[in-house]
Amino acid sequence: MEHYIIKGGKPLEGEVEISGAKNAALGLLAAAIMTDEEVTIENLPDVSDINQLIEAIENIGATVDRVDRHTVKINGKTIDSYVVEYEQMKKIRASYYLLGALLGRFKNAEVALPGGCAIGSRPIDQHTKGFRALGADVDDENKNGRGMLIAKADKLVGNHIFLDMASVGATINLMLAASLAEGKTTIENVAKEPHVVDVANLLNSMGANIRGAGTDKIRIYGVEKLHGTTYSVIPDQIEAGTFMCAAAATGGSILVKNVIPIHLECITSKLIEMGCIVTEYDDAVRVKAGDNIRSTQLKTLPYPGFPTDMQPQMTAVLSVATGYSIVVESIFENRFKYVGELNRMGAKIQVEGSTAFINGVNGLKGARVSAPDLRAGAALVIAGLMAEGFTTVDDIVYIQRGYENFEDKLRGLGADIEKVSDDREEQKFKLRVG
Ligand code: EPZ
Repeated sequence: MEHYIIKGGKPLEGEVEISGAKNAALGLLAAAIMTDEEVTIENLPDVSDINQLIEAIENIGATVDRVDRHTVKINGKTIDSYVVEYEQMKKIRASYYLLGALLGRFKNAEVALPGGCAIGSRPIDQHTKGFRALGADVDDENKNGRGMLIAKADKLVGNHIFLDMASVGATINLMLAASLAEGKTTIENVAKEPHVVDVANLLNSMGANIRGAGTDKIRIYGVEKLHGTTYSVIPDQIEAGTFMCAAAATGGSILVKNVIPIHLECITSKLIEMGCIVTEYDDAVRVKAGDNIRSTQLKTLPYPGFPTDMQPQMTAVLSVATGYSIVVESIFENRFKYVGELNRMGAKIQVEGSTAFINGVNGLKGARVSAPDLRAGAALVIAGLMAEGFTTVDDIVYIQRGYENFEDKLRGLGADIEKVSDDREEQKFKLRVG
């Protein structure tokens, strides 16, 4: 199996270009099938999650033209199925965005019930509550005996929906369905992440009428139909934050280019608190590590709070901070699985429920570790980049779900990292970097 081999200890210096936001692109691709005209999406990240969802869109009959690695033209005119099979859902749970898109456009959708995943049970009760509020009949208890979530409606009628929690997925899925419902839909207690705003902007450029995305209340005035457009994905705030943490962790200085600084404010302010110097430009931020890393406390919250998708990366940096730090994970119930791997590298972190108590150590030592999920995998790479000696990170298929050319971008910053398939290649790397 392919894995990363890393020789740590070098400060990362230089510039890195951030790709399009995976979690925005997934919603944008689903929205693109809601018209029988061509929609062009640009600045897609070339990562496996995106390629899997494009495959799911092809599987229901849409016409897909992969113009290049970062651009796709989608035409939903040829869609001939409303069924997204388990095989597809297993590969990418965000296939459930096709529920909102198919229900909105065809009033008919069948998507395999999503299971949980490494970070939590991740139910979709808020999605189905909203679809029912719009008038859909939803079987989300597998009454059909095929493990499918089936949503059908004679028509969708706008309604007032109050989410129990600011769910990103539910907010996006309900925006998709409501954009073609009759009348006005108000959704309250919504997620305000940049990717929610991005999907609303695409829908509006397709002729939808959505107001208030990015605030606590979204108003959607349903329209008859949507039309084609061309749209570019916003930069990935989590990929950017990951490189910002890599600069802090390795004592380096990195110019992170092609970002929207305001999307990074929470990460920026936390890194400044930890002693980094962060300079903001129009579409870039520079992170320069301080002489040492100061300990701090953080709690993950919905945007604009500290993003849960940055929790593992930040915990890795804090593992070598001076003093005690506390990290509270308030979004997912099982997002500290990687801590055991950090402790095998010499970290001193104790997890009690949703809180990690971090006793900062002077440094980490390389080890063979395994990525339990996407962001934890990125955190273990950051740990390897700062550790003494060699670190091997297994199960990098998780990392490749959300980071485009991760090892190339890190090598461009001076990191000694390589993707290898066997011991022979690993030995060659070790001989080369010494
Ligand atoms: C999105 O997941 C992201 N994924 C996640 O990123 C991210 O961690 C999460 O939002 C929070 O920001 C994509 O956008 C594809 P939620 P999502 O619905 O939509 C509970 C990554 O690493 N909940 O905001 O599934 C849920 O269990 C991934 O890129 C319900 O209880 O997250 C969780 O505890 C990991 N019922 C909380 O809400 C529901 O119907 C937030 O979930 C929906 C959610």
